[in-house]
Amino acid sequence: MDKEKFYITTPIYYPSANFHIGHCYCTVAADSIARYKRERGFDVRFLTGTDEHGQKIQRKAEAEGVTPKEYVDKIVENAKELWKSLDISYDDFIRTTDERHVKTVQKIFKKLYDHGDIYKSEYEGLYCTPCESFWTQTQAQDGKCPDCGRDLELVKEESYFLKLSKYQDRLLEYIESHDEFMKPGIRKNEMINNFIKPGLQDLCVSRTTFDWGIPVTFDEKHVVNVWADALSNYISALGCYSENDELFKKYWPADLHLVGKEIFRFHTIIWPIMLMALDIPLPKQVFGHGWLVINGSKISKSLGNYADPRDYINKYGLDAVRYYLLHEVQFGQDGNFSEELLATKSNSDLANDLGNLVSRTVAMVEKYFAGTIPSSKEDDEYSINLKQTIKDSISNLEQKMDALDISNALNCLWEIIRRTNKYIDEEMPWAIAKDESQKEKLKMVMYNLIESIRIISVLLKPFLPATSKKIWEQIGIQEGAITTWESSKEFGLIQVGTKVQKGQNLFDRIDLSIFKEEAPKEKKLEKKKENNKNEDNKEQEKIGLISIDEFSKISLKAAKVLEVEKVEGADKLLKIQIDLGSEKRTIVSGIAKYYSKEDLIGKNIVVCTNLKPVKLRGIESNGMLLAAGEDPNVKLLMLDDSILPGTSIH
Ligand code: MSP
Repeated sequence: MDKEKFYITTPIYYPSANFHIGHCYCTVAADSIARYKRERGFDVRFLTGTDEHGQKIQRKAEAEGVTPKEYVDKIVENAKELWKSLDISYDDFIRTTDERHVKTVQKIFKKLYDHGDIYKSEYEGLYCTPCESFWTQTQAQDGKCPDCGRDLELVKEESYFLKLSKYQDRLLEYIESHDEFMKPGIRKNEMINNFIKPGLQDLCVSRTTFDWGIPVTFDEKHVVNVWADALSNYISALGCYSENDELFKKYWPADLHLVGKEIFRFHTIIWPIMLMALDIPLPKQVFGHGWLVINGSKISKSLGNYADPRDYINKYGLDAVRYYLLHEVQFGQDGNFSEELLATKSNSDLANDLGNLVSRTVAMVEKYFAGTIPSSKEDDEYSINLKQTIKDSISNLEQKMDALDISNALNCLWEIIRRTNKYIDEEMPWAIAKDESQKEKLKMVMYNLIESIRIISVLLKPFLPATSKKIWEQIGIQEGAITTWESSKEFGLIQVGTKVQKGQNLFDRIDLSIFKEEAPKEKKLEKKKENNKNEDNKEQEKIGLISIDEFSKISLKAAKVLEVEKVEGADKLLKIQIDLGSEKRTIVSGIAKYYSKEDLIGKNIVVCTNLKPVKLRGIESNGMLLAAGEDPNVKLLMLDDSILPGTSIH
C-alpha cells in the first residue's frame, strides 16, 4: 500500500550572513515534525530555501559593490551550513534564483494576467523595504512599519495589481468552512477581523523602480514583487507548470506551511487568493508560530540583541540547543530566549534526567552482569506500573505531536524518563544486588531499565536524533527493527545477551556559576537593586504577596478521578484514586459532604501534587484537590476533557 504523503514547508529565508537563533526556531520545529511524520510511516517531503530577490537585497549588493547574484551566491551557503549544523532533514532546498522557480513564477504571472486577475495601474503608497511589504495609511503607525517599527518609504510607480478584492468573499467562506486551515485559532480571528472583513485592497505585484527580481515576460520593465515571487516557491519546488510535474501531482496540496506570525497574513490571504485564481487547491494548514524574544523584543541584528546559534551549538552541543527551542517555547506563543535557561535546562533535563539514567543503568549492567543484558522472568508491581506509564505516555505524546504541540509532546517523553528514574529508586538495585536470593529480581530490574531506555531512545529520534544514536551505542543496538517508532509500543524487544558499553556522558554538566559573575560596576548596580528589592520584598510580604519563584514551587496538575471510597469512621472524608498520566495516586479529601462517588468518577480535576504526604485515618494522602467556595457551597475546580491527566497548570 502507498504511504500517505505529508508535505511540510518552512518559509524561505532572506539570505543573510547573520542568521540568529530565532531563525532556527521554525526550521528546528519543522524538522522535528517532519522526522516524527516519517517515523509514523508518512511519505514526507520537507522543503526549505532562500528568498533572494527584492530591493533590500539589491541595496545590500550595491553597498558591497557586487551584483545581487554575486551577493546572494556568496551568502546562501550560510543557510545551508546552518541547517547542516542543526541536523535539519530537508528533502529539497529551493532558491528563488533557481531557473525552475523563475520559470514557474513567470507562468503564474502570465496565467493570472490572462485570467483577468492582474491588471496594470499605478501604485502610490507606503512600503517597508526591510519587510518587503506594503502598508496603507491607516495600517501604518506614525509613518512606521507595524511589523518592524522602521520608517516606511513613500513609493509611486507603475505596477500590476492582483485583484484580492474579487476573492474576498470566497476566501472568507473558505476560512469559515475549513477550521483546520489557520492555526492557532487566535491568529485566524486576527486575520478575519483586522484584514479581511475591513476589506481587502488589490495588491501591487510588480515593481519598476529596481530590477532585481523575476522579469514579467510580457512587460519587461516590470519585475515580480518579492512576495508573489516568494510564495510561489511552495509549488515551483514541486515542478508545477513544468514539463515534469510528478512531484506536484504527488505532494500538493501542502499539508503544513509553518510560518512566523508576522508573515501569517501573506500565507493566509495573498497565497490562498493566488491559488484560487490559478484554480489550484489550497494548503491544508498554515500554522503561525510565535517569536523567540529576548526581554520581550524580537531577536534581530538591527535591535541589537543578536544571538548567534553557532555560539550556542559550540558551547552546549546541538541537542541542548534543539531541546531548548523545541521544549521551552509553547508552539504558537512567543517564548523568551535566555542562555542561562538553556544551560540550566541542559543540566536538569538532559544531563540529570536523561544522561544520568543512561549512564547509571549501563554502569549497573556492567557491574552486576559483566555488561550483558540479563533475561527477565518476573514482573512486580513497580514494573507493571512502569510499563503502563510508558504505554500511556506514548499515546499522549502522539496526540500532542498530531496537534503540533511539540513542547508538551516532549513533556510526555520526559514523563517516561522521570518514571524510569523513579523505578530505580523504587527497586533499589544496589540493595538487592547484595542479596543472592534476589538475583532473579535484579535481572528483571536491569532488563526493564535497559528496555525502557531503548524505548526512550526511539521516541527521542524526531527531537534529538544525535542523542538517540549515542544511546544505541551504549545499550549495544543498531538502527533496525528495534529502533522503529512502532517498536516503542512493544515492551521486551531488546535481546537478552546484548552487550552494553559505557560511553562518554551524553551531556556535559555546565557550570552555571558563569551566569552569576558580573562586571564590578554592574555588581554594584545589582547590589543597589538587590537592596531596593529587599525593601520591596519586605513590604510585599507584609501584604501577603509571594514572588513568582515561590509560586513556581507549587506543582498543579490536571488529574482524572478513577475510584472513590468512603473512609470508615470519618463522615467528611473520601479516599480518591486519581490518574496523573504518569502515575496513579491516592488522596484523602474532606469533600464527602459536597460530592458523592458518582459525582466524581471520571471528572477532570485540579490537584496540587507536591505536598508532603500526610496520614489521615491511617491512609496516606498524596496531594490536595483544589476547590473554591465556603461551606456549604464548596465546588471542586474542574477542567474540560481536552486537558489530559498530568498536564501542568501554570
Ligand atoms: N522571506 C520571507 C519569507 C517568505 S516565505 C514565502 C521572510 N524571511 S525571514 O528570513 O525574514 O524570516 C524567515 C522566518 O524566520 C519567518 O517565519 C520569521 O517569522 C522567522 N523568524 C525571524 N525571527 C524570528 C524570531 N526571533 N523568532 C521566531 N521566528 C523568527 O520573512
